[in-house]
Amino acid sequence: PLHFAVMGNPIQHSYSPLLHSLFARQAGLDINYEKVLVPPEDFESAVQTFFEQGGKGLNITIPFKLRAYELAKANLSLRAQSAGSVNTLWMEDGLLHGCNTDGIGMVNDIRRQGIALEDKKILLLGAGGAARGVILPLLETGCRQLQVINRTATKATELVEQCLASLPQYANELSAGGFEHIQGQWDIVINATSSSLQDNTLPLPVGLFTHNSLAYDMVYTPENDTPFLQQARKDGARLASDGLGMLVYQGAESFFIWNRVRVNPIPVLATLRQQLI
Ligand code: ATR
Repeated sequence: PLHFAVMGNPIQHSYSPLLHSLFARQAGLDINYEKVLVPPEDFESAVQTFFEQGGKGLNITIPFKLRAYELAKANLSLRAQSAGSVNTLWMEDGLLHGCNTDGIGMVNDIRRQGIALEDKKILLLGAGGAARGVILPLLETGCRQLQVINRTATKATELVEQCLASLPQYANELSAGGFEHIQGQWDIVINATSSSLQDNTLPLPVGLFTHNSLAYDMVYTPENDTPFLQQARKDGARLASDGLGMLVYQGAESFFIWNRVRVNPIPVLATLRQQLI
């Protein structure tokens, strides 16, 4: 079989082995995908050993995505460069390569729900690693506006300035502010803060959503029901989606990088949702 693994700390609850075994079954590939709990001091040597022993691909999760970026610094995809972090590693021509599939995973999960992003007004809440990871894939959809909003507004401003330094062609679309700067109605509102993990709601103005708006939380729960999604439904968002699909679609994108096979994430997402409930 081909060897894959996900490295993180903690790692016990990772669904990546399940996802990739389901993708492999679809693709007719014989794979072995392990969870590896890596002690903080051992990350770099664990990656090196994995590939020396013939491993084909690695997923990297918390807290190692920045260190994976550093390790693959000589051969990063544009998505990884723009995200500033790496969740997918592989060897090519004897060199370590890195990509970040989280952002394209989220965009593809939004498209799965029948929503085109072209010409849309998108509000992105949060300015940490999760938000940064989705900015380039969102801009590439041809959206009309992408505003990054953060509790600490200066962090959003700095993030947007940093993005525009390397992507000046998006100066008309990309902007930043604090929650007090939110104005008008938005087609897509994405929660990339960790508010739902702490069971908090966000200081969002009422009237943010139209009856066609999508509220998207990067966090997931068994019942597709985070505090942010509850808040959005109350305020009139017709479509409210947690981030379970993002998890499945980022996996499908990593699977494609490693195996050059496109799988159908939809039945895999259904299986995963059933496992959670
Ligand atoms: P991640 O890598 O998951 O993005 P992070 O870099 O720690 O994690 O960023 C967490 C994000 O959630 C930040 O944007 C943070 O806002 P601040 O920069 O102002 O701290 C945001 N966040 C966390 N808890 C929040 C809350 N209760 N309300 C609003 N924003 C919150």
